[in-house]
Amino acid sequence: MSNVHTISAKTTLVGLIGWPVSHSVSPAMHNAAFDALGLDWRYVPLPVDPALPGAVGDAVRGMRAMGMRGVNVTVPHKQAVLPFLDRIAAAAQAMRAVNTVVVEADGSLTGDNTDAPGFIADLRAHGVEPAGQSVLVLGAGGSARAIVYGLAQAQARHVTIANRSSERASRLLDDLRPFLGATVVEVMALPDGARTIEADLIVNCTSLGMTPHQDTTPWPHDLPLHPGQIVYDLVYNPAETLLLRQARQHGARAIGGLGMLIWQGALAFERWTGQPAPVEVMRLAAEECLRRRAADSGQQCRQQPINVRRATPDDAAVISRLHSALQAYHAEAHPSFFKQPSAHTFPPTMVRDLLEKPSTVVFLAEMGGTEIGYLYADTMPAQETTMTYSLERLWIHHISVEPGFQRQGVGRALIDAAKSYARSQGIKTLALSVWAFNQAAIRFFEAQGFVMYNHRMWLQVDGATA
Ligand SMILES: NC(=O)c1ccc[n+]([C@@H]2O[C@H](COP(=O)([O-])OP(=O)(O)OC[C@H]3O[C@@H](n4cnc5c(N)ncnc54)[C@H](OP(=O)(O)O)[C@@H]3O)[C@@H](O)[C@H]2O)c1
Repeated sequence: MSNVHTISAKTTLVGLIGWPVSHSVSPAMHNAAFDALGLDWRYVPLPVDPALPGAVGDAVRGMRAMGMRGVNVTVPHKQAVLPFLDRIAAAAQAMRAVNTVVVEADGSLTGDNTDAPGFIADLRAHGVEPAGQSVLVLGAGGSARAIVYGLAQAQARHVTIANRSSERASRLLDDLRPFLGATVVEVMALPDGARTIEADLIVNCTSLGMTPHQDTTPWPHDLPLHPGQIVYDLVYNPAETLLLRQARQHGARAIGGLGMLIWQGALAFERWTGQPAPVEVMRLAAEECLRRRAADSGQQCRQQPINVRRATPDDAAVISRLHSALQAYHAEAHPSFFKQPSAHTFPPTMVRDLLEKPSTVVFLAEMGGTEIGYLYADTMPAQETTMTYSLERLWIHHISVEPGFQRQGVGRALIDAAKSYARSQGIKTLALSVWAFNQAAIRFFEAQGFVMYNHRMWLQVDGATA
């Protein structure tokens, strides 16, 4: 493998043209992918000032002249590049917007749009098949155009576009009409439109909820969502939007927009390189980039303190709700094995019965007055067998932290509470079992001092008093 960090005359260049481009996670995502595959390629952000006369055309033509393999295009140039391309793929024609330019082997330029297939690929990666579904799309801007087109291509049964300005939604429908096939599409005004629709899938294509307006949501607070419904929020910064929290609180399934960003990038990567994209590598790089940016902008410094308390039977409903995050995680990792969470998975009645047992220990973690994670354990000693002594241990059955609050010390705070409890009871061992596929959990428990033995993880507690 060549040294991929050394840029030479042989290095193949791709990049991102837009204004501004400094916020983009695409360079991190693509460069990690090139490194993972040992490709001597680099992806560079290329700010193209819209105020400079002729800049967009010069940038597009210059790409061919400089032997680049292609670019991504972002706002405000997604339409402006169209006149400078030799060929426009069907998706980009329908959206009247290009997000990927490919320099073909003969030097001609093809404009494509990977947003719509990226969205559909991410839905399918989450085990959601849009064919035959009834979908409510909130918003009618550039991203809504891609989503509606993608849903029609994937043969959704019915799509309702609800936008603050219904004229903009009508324009979108008129533009997309030739591409809708058998999908029935209608338009409504937000927020009242949302009240009249019972959709299988709700997709937020508005910018409501996006940093720095994290306390906004397109979904009216008094309007219920149901278990079995899926809410997909295109907003990916923050990862956990208010809309996704609303969805979970009502038992609906919540999916954030980072996956779409990764898949649209993965599809561009494949167009340029002709190789399958290392999607997981790209995901990790994008997540890391967003985490670093949040830290740099002080978002982590503003993190509120984590408060951990012992749960009571009155907390049964909230624990039941928090459990769905754990099950959704497993269902996403192994959709053919784990079911999606439903109201019956860990119902409040079952949680209440467990909480009333003297051997049950449940800790709840709260931040800013909201419960965001829990740990459920029991203190029943393991029986003596012909091979082993009886063992006083705190057996951890579940530990779950809401997606938007992971990697912020909540899991550690819950484990610390369990350790303190064990110490106070003279219990010297914490133990748990973890699914072998769940490498992230194994790494987390190892970081807390657990060691793996016989497919279980064990932690010796220092200073137990009895
Ligand atoms: N995950 C991904 O890969 C991905 C890809 C593209 C976009 N996105 C995200 O999707 C969001 C929308 O992007 P876009 O390109 O479609 O933006 P856009 O073209 O500017 O459209 C913005 C949409 O939000 C609506 N909106 C804005 N403020 C509103 C308010 N206060 N109340 C009600 N509606 C409001 C607008 O309604 P009006 O028409 O009435 O103004 C419009 O429908 C952004 O957060 C973007 O980051 C994510």
